[in-house]
Amino acid sequence: MSGVFINLAYLLASVLFILGLKGLTHPRTAVRGNLLGAIGMLIAVAVTLLDQRILDFSMILVGLVIGAAIGAVMAVRVQMTSMPQMVALLNGFGGAGSLLVAGAELMTGAEQSATSAAALPLQVTLIAAAASGLIGAVTFWGSLVAFGKLEGFLKDIRLTGQQAFNAILAVIVLALSGWLIYDPTTLWVYWAIVGVSSVLGLSLVFPIGGADMPVVIALLNSYSGLAAASTGFVLGNNALIITGSLVGASGIILTNIMCKAMNRSLINVLFGVWVPSDSAGSADDVYAGKVKAASAEELGMLLETARRVVIVPGYGMAVAQAQHAVRDLVNLLEQRGADVEFAIHPVAGRMPGHMNVLLAEADIPYDKLKEMDEINPSFEQTDVAIVIGANDVVNPVARTNPSSPIAGMPILNVDKARSIVVIKRSLSPGFAGIPNPLFAADNTLMMFSDAKKGAMDLVTALKEA
Ligand code: TAP
Repeated sequence: MSGVFINLAYLLASVLFILGLKGLTHPRTAVRGNLLGAIGMLIAVAVTLLDQRILDFSMILVGLVIGAAIGAVMAVRVQMTSMPQMVALLNGFGGAGSLLVAGAELMTGAEQSATSAAALPLQVTLIAAAASGLIGAVTFWGSLVAFGKLEGFLKDIRLTGQQAFNAILAVIVLALSGWLIYDPTTLWVYWAIVGVSSVLGLSLVFPIGGADMPVVIALLNSYSGLAAASTGFVLGNNALIITGSLVGASGIILTNIMCKAMNRSLINVLFGVWVPSDSAGSADDVYAGKVKAASAEELGMLLETARRVVIVPGYGMAVAQAQHAVRDLVNLLEQRGADVEFAIHPVAGRMPGHMNVLLAEADIPYDKLKEMDEINPSFEQTDVAIVIGANDVVNPVARTNPSSPIAGMPILNVDKARSIVVIKRSLSPGFAGIPNPLFAADNTLMMFSDAKKGAMDLVTALKEA
């Protein structure tokens, strides 16, 4: 197959990836965006396979069948709330795949690849291979640690001198890379780079607190893209270079958005520790004698007269799969003439866009979902804010207590609404592990219930009101 045709097909695939990413920026176009990206990937894979006539297709078929079977089972079984763990694993495997392919290419013929399609000098190929080994290994082991922490079977480990240790490992990797590039006959050095980088990946992620894992996963996603792009240079494969760069760039943009949403700098996430603080006061200090519980009937009466209602969903709505019951509640409120909107915090739930996905699944129109900056000024004109399974993203302590673990995190200003209804099962804290004075505020009524049952009970109460 001619090189020109292959590169034209790769170009078409890359344009489809870019259009796909553009589509994914809005829920309305996300499905089409996903489809465009998938078509781009199909073209890229098909053309690559057809180009490599010497390939043993039977091995590829075996890999395809095993991989598809594992992937299908995981896709069906994974809970929406466990998606960050799944993404961590996928990033890790992406990094491992990149380093193995780069290593195999080095072992079987760096010289040929240097004179092939991309015609890169051998030194450039070796630099790219070293980068792939380093970034791929850090991504793989770092992602496994992130997975373990999110699953709760790995704890934070922080040793004295850890950062100096990491710096020494980084210097060793650079020295080994220099050696590989200077003396291309010593190809075993590549695996030494991979080995030391693996320790570096473990050591970099182990000390980072669980609360910062979402940022770490976004960053590792970016790394997996960089590893793929480096392998693209080793193979002289333009599609891989472009795709890897797109993943690298979009991952770093997501990392930045999440750092802002959690009010953390990237340096702080990577080298600081998230210290759980008791400065927010004990739960007893915050809640004792101040929390007012209300029944569905009482809340039904409150909602009956509400003109403007804002619903704030959080992690608990996802756990309870309450989105359909919430949609029924919204429909009923609207039939009674209320204006209803949703306030979406960028880190509500456990993954970016978590609430948007759930609400879209329940056919809630996108134009009802308002982002934090847009909806915050309107809470003062809101009759009732219904907080469903959210906690940290509405905790006013973020604004008032500079020593709290969520200090400075932008929050939804629910406390400014005339009345607040909070549906959750108990006074247990959220992800950040701190009490929430909102639950004890004068204008807050607590409905102690599972989110789905609570929303259904409100529907019944409102019908009967
Ligand atoms: P959280 O602060 O984690 O609070 C969730 C609340 O849901 C809990 O207090 C819990 O209280 C309640 N809950 C659990 N199961 C429930 C059920 N079946 N029915 C009703 N309520 C239930 O949630 P949030 O406000 O969405 O904030 C998200 C937090 O996660 C932030 O701290 C954020 O930084 C962090 N985080 C975010 C992400 C992303 S990317 N979104 C990823 C990882 C971590 P009860 O047990 O009393 O019911």
